[in-house]
Amino acid sequence: MPLVIAMDGPSGSGKSSASKGVARALGLRYLDTGAMYRAVTWWLLENGVPVEDAAAVEARAGEPAIASGTDPDAPTITVDGTDVSAPIRTRAVTNAVSAVSSVPAVRARMVALQREIIGSGGIVVEGRDIGTVVAPDAPVKVYLTASEEIRAARRAKDLAADPGASVTVTQAEQARRDRLDSTRKASPLTRAGDAYEIDSTELSLAEVIEAVVRLAKEHE
Ligand code: DC
Repeated sequence: MPLVIAMDGPSGSGKSSASKGVARALGLRYLDTGAMYRAVTWWLLENGVPVEDAAAVEARAGEPAIASGTDPDAPTITVDGTDVSAPIRTRAVTNAVSAVSSVPAVRARMVALQREIIGSGGIVVEGRDIGTVVAPDAPVKVYLTASEEIRAARRAKDLAADPGASVTVTQAEQARRDRLDSTRKASPLTRAGDAYEIDSTELSLAEVIEAVVRLAKEHE
């Protein structure tokens, strides 16, 4: 299989920055699958669909056209042609996305789209189930972790513009999201048996990128 690098792990583990950095370093494309689940969630909220109601979510989740651009220097995400890269990062979407992504019909649709984009490879794909479900044959699988405190601090920094996003609030919301993402029935967040685990708590971004690039080169 041509190079596919699966990057899984919980929120705030540094997956996005590391994945983009690895894609740039190796001249690969980049896909943020979390952005796709966020985009569906954004659309459902916009359209007044009760996101905790799995049947209602399933009934409508096929409607929005989700498109992802894979340039690591300028990744894009659109819903029905509208750029949603900013609104999908709001707390409203962040706090609703776990419920939406636990619905099997949503996952089936996203996984099919993701496999289409992965195509014949040459891509770094970040998410929760890439090494386990989306691309189980990926030659390079990484499971990125970091301590809960570091992850909350990183997330709070991402949300600095949001006045409600203190470290304490972020940590509680993140713990809830990780719990939901790890305990849902449909492809929960879990480390693939053959994934290489990197704990980024004590590592710089450059060190994480270097470690993944080294792994990728071993597989050439
Ligand atoms: O990586 P992120 O925080 O942007 O992801 C948002 C949510 O999407 C996350 O809480 C769980 C879900 N997700 C998923 O279920 N499977 C993926 N491959 C990626 C994200």
